[in-house]
Amino acid sequence: MVSAAPDRLRIAVQKSGRLAEASLGLLRRAGLAFRASRDHLFLYGENLPIDVLLVRDDDIPGLLVEGSCELGIVGRNVLVEQRLAGAGAPAPQELLPLGFGGCRLSIAIPQSGAIAQTSDLDGLRIATSYPALLADWLARSGLKAEVVVLNGSVEIAPRLGKAEAICDLVSSGATLAANQLRELVTVFDSQAVLASSPREPTAAKAVQIERLRARIAGALSGDGARLVLLQAPRAALPDITRLLPSRDLPSVLSLDGRPDDIAVQALCSAALDWQHLEELKRLGARSLMVLNVERMLA
Ligand code: PRP
Ligand code: ZN
Repeated sequence: MVSAAPDRLRIAVQKSGRLAEASLGLLRRAGLAFRASRDHLFLYGENLPIDVLLVRDDDIPGLLVEGSCELGIVGRNVLVEQRLAGAGAPAPQELLPLGFGGCRLSIAIPQSGAIAQTSDLDGLRIATSYPALLADWLARSGLKAEVVVLNGSVEIAPRLGKAEAICDLVSSGATLAANQLRELVTVFDSQAVLASSPREPTAAKAVQIERLRARIAGALSGDGARLVLLQAPRAALPDITRLLPSRDLPSVLSLDGRPDDIAVQALCSAALDWQHLEELKRLGARSLMVLNVERMLA
């Protein structure tokens, strides 16, 4: 039983599947702690007034539209499919791309067959669970094909004689290979996104939503960020600054009793590698230290 709690935020997350684990991991890195309900479909937020609903990914846009949840973590493909299918009806907004769950919606064809290029699709049947995204792409490409809607096992449609091609999500490509299919063209690129309800939140909830969005963005920007600490001759600072793959200007501190030397502290991207460190050393840097950054708040 989930009691009505008007002041608590609800975020819908995929229960199982490609996004499930990473979604909860991200919320934990944003500082949320949860206690699971007995049926494991509801996670009660212990340290913030934010609860998690564990659902099928395809149900997330609907939960956002009806206002059962203020936020959701869902594949952009699911979000845009329902927006296109809804033809102008209120639709969830994408607040933030999350950088995981990358995949693409692609048209695939039998490895051995007559289809060689996209124009060959004209007049054929394409099976998919994403009819709106496919129809949109076909219209933009000036192609006429019959869209056959299937709600699962799309990859076996050509063997069953239901369609000549399919349009389905591809991640590793293993599913296509296992079904003797090959990718012909990408229709849509996708990844997990943070989405919000089209309903206007209360002022109090709007504050909570923005706080969580900023925290998630902070957890993401910490991914791969490095803090570099070093000491160097003051004269080497321009060269050092130029060399560092840093987002902002470094902080420069003076060293007591050593007016010609400085300590430098710089936030860098994960692009910082051994070669950078060796070149820094050549410029006179000493006491080099590279630390992983766990989280940042812009
Ligand atoms: C997709 C798609 C394929 C598989 C492709 O399903 O329908 O079955 O993933 O991945 P691969 O290229 O790594 O083999 P998904 O797991 O997203 O489930 P759903 O679409 O039913 O939610
Ligand atoms: Zn699904």
